[in-house]
Amino acid sequence: MSNQNPVFIPGPTNMPDRLRTKMMAQTVDHRAPDFAGLFKPMLDDTKKVFGTTLGTVITFPGSGTGGWEAAVANTLSPGDKVLVARYGMFSHKWIDLCQKFGLEVQVVETPWGCGAPADRFEEILAADTAHTIKAVLVTHNETATGVLSDVGSVRRAMDSADHPAMMFVDCVSSLASVPFHFDDWGVDVAISGSQKGFMLPAGMAITCVSPKAFAAMETAKLPRCYFDFRDMAANNGKGGFPYTPPLQLIYGMREALDMLFEEGLENVYARHHRLAEGVRRAVSAWGLDLVAQEPALYSDTVSAIRVPEGFDSNRLTDHAYTAYGVSFGVGLGELNGKAFRIGHLGSLTDVMVLSGLATIEMAMADLDYPITLGSGVAAAQEYYRQTRAQAVTQGKENLAAE
Ligand SMILES: Cc1ncc(COP(=O)(O)O)c(C=O)c1O
Repeated sequence: MSNQNPVFIPGPTNMPDRLRTKMMAQTVDHRAPDFAGLFKPMLDDTKKVFGTTLGTVITFPGSGTGGWEAAVANTLSPGDKVLVARYGMFSHKWIDLCQKFGLEVQVVETPWGCGAPADRFEEILAADTAHTIKAVLVTHNETATGVLSDVGSVRRAMDSADHPAMMFVDCVSSLASVPFHFDDWGVDVAISGSQKGFMLPAGMAITCVSPKAFAAMETAKLPRCYFDFRDMAANNGKGGFPYTPPLQLIYGMREALDMLFEEGLENVYARHHRLAEGVRRAVSAWGLDLVAQEPALYSDTVSAIRVPEGFDSNRLTDHAYTAYGVSFGVGLGELNGKAFRIGHLGSLTDVMVLSGLATIEMAMADLDYPITLGSGVAAAQEYYRQTRAQAVTQGKENLAAE
């Protein structure tokens, strides 16, 4: 088994050497003045990725799940009502967390393959004239289904209903890969993690918090300690940390931001779109279907692909791993056995994606899938060839404009 092969799981993503070497750093005292000089600019620069000047970036040692917990525990009280749609494994798990915290969770059951149902949210919010709903929860990119929801449409629904609820957005598998507009969308808490678009190991929950969410903390009664936004913000303001920070991850995050800014955020988003489109061309050439129900919902970070009737997607991912040493995402929840996922986010190039497509094609051919060997690779190659020159020109223009 070669450890040179990229992973095609939708996070943790491939770690560029530049980040790995940055993180191989000796301990430095986090109470020494140098730490503030590293940490505070890192937090400020992360705001650019969230698309905010109004929000405060707060990181915790943890992962995306810790970020979900922080959003809920800091801003809500036991029995508070939240509105959320279930359309995949991650929206489901966030619902579960809210229920465990004793919240009243109004769940809009939504077919897996669809996104956040803004129209339905609007009806529910408009009917809630007493404003009992305190927060609307949106999973921006449902990693289980490869669906990217339109957060702007949820904001418009909330505004049309003239409802004052907060909006929490899970951008674990979208941030730093597709555009995010914290201020324009009126997000109150956004939650991400280090191991996807930032190309780092898991270990850091990366959140962004609005002034409105900070105001809600004045009266919110759910217990919080480790994930207390206010403790963290008070310490971070001075460049410090209320407990021991994950120093090497912070070095990595500094470098990851530099890499993203050197490429240019618009170029990062364009690269993700282009790579994803190549994968989608391959899926179509194989004659397979995406789980995402329509093009407007297609995720540029992960594609969930249905296997034909009578085939088991777990056998396919197992075989790709054991025979060729390449990991693809398994189908989660109700998609287990029925779909596999190709993660195409983070540090990836055309060439790397083509290697993944070639591998899964070989695995499918080995298992007698009704596909033509080479068809998906050829479709993606054709697309990458046709769009390469334009991507280079556009990339230079984007960098000049940034
Ligand atoms: C959309 C989404 N939300 C939340 C999570 C949970 O994050 P973590 O595993 O970092 O706790 C994940 C993990 O893959 C995710 O994809």
